Amino acid sequence: VTAQVLVVGSANADLVVAADRRPAGGETVLGGDTEVLPGGKGANTAVAAARLGAEVALLGAVGDDAHGSLLLDSLSTSGVRTDLVRVVRRPTGLAFITVTPDGENSILVSPGANSALRPEDVPAAVSEAKVLVASLEIPLDTVEHAITTAAKAGTRTILNLSPVVTLPESTLAAVDVLLVNQHEAAWLLGGSKDGAESVVRTSELPALLELGPRSAVVTAGAQGAVCVEDGRVSEVPSPHVEAVDTTGAGDAFAGALAFALAQDSSLPDAVERAVRVAAFSVTRRGAQPSYPTPAELTLPN
Ligand code: RIB
Ligand code: NA
Repeated sequence: VTAQVLVVGSANADLVVAADRRPAGGETVLGGDTEVLPGGKGANTAVAAARLGAEVALLGAVGDDAHGSLLLDSLSTSGVRTDLVRVVRRPTGLAFITVTPDGENSILVSPGANSALRPEDVPAAVSEAKVLVASLEIPLDTVEHAITTAAKAGTRTILNLSPVVTLPESTLAAVDVLLVNQHEAAWLLGGSKDGAESVVRTSELPALLELGPRSAVVTAGAQGAVCVEDGRVSEVPSPHVEAVDTTGAGDAFAGALAFALAQDSSLPDAVERAVRVAAFSVTRRGAQPSYPTPAELTLPN
């Protein structure tokens, strides 16, 4: 595999329903028509990077079904190499997504075929990529193997620790850039998972590096993002946009960050580019369908 960027992660069909509010336990709420859109954190990241012009391959798994074809089509139309996407005898991963009028989403994932991605599927050629990006929603041992193999070969590694889980120190020590949102960062720093203590103060961020990664990036939605590297913290504000659908904004960020780092951008510069791409993505519906080409990135500063 020679790709500038190798993405390791999930591919899901997103079943998206707009609703005024999300149902509580035992409650039934009527929503709009269901849209079936290509998603999954891995596929989203790969598409975001490819749209910007990166040479990208996805290591992933889909089922031999209509949702699998939807994903393979979206990937190849966007220019992502799919020869490392396995087609397996499990249903393609599904994400049940509710989007409320404020643009906020809640997601239930049924991993299906994504669970079939094994450490032995990680190609030796992982070392030929310039940057490897991994996210969760696939088996943890596969993520660990991909990250440690890439790091040994000198490939830069970005770990989008979403959904957040506890990782062994040996994996975190092989990570160049730990990418998390504020809730995930708060949890990693000892907070709870339910978002009660979900705001992280900038002064707390350097503590993320004590977990092992060389640098860390924390995304903060409409506020932008913060990165910390070599003891220096940089805050990058987001351009102001009207949010329509924030689904997959973090994955757009990851893809743009990977591409910028593959082009040898400094971390703060890469974060600035990623913030703009993520901001653009929330102005359109869906995850993959909303990601920009460079020509479309004409947001006010
Ligand atoms: O990050 C957004 C993605 O999360 C969606 O596309 C959905 O498939 C889930 O993986
Ligand atoms: Na979007």
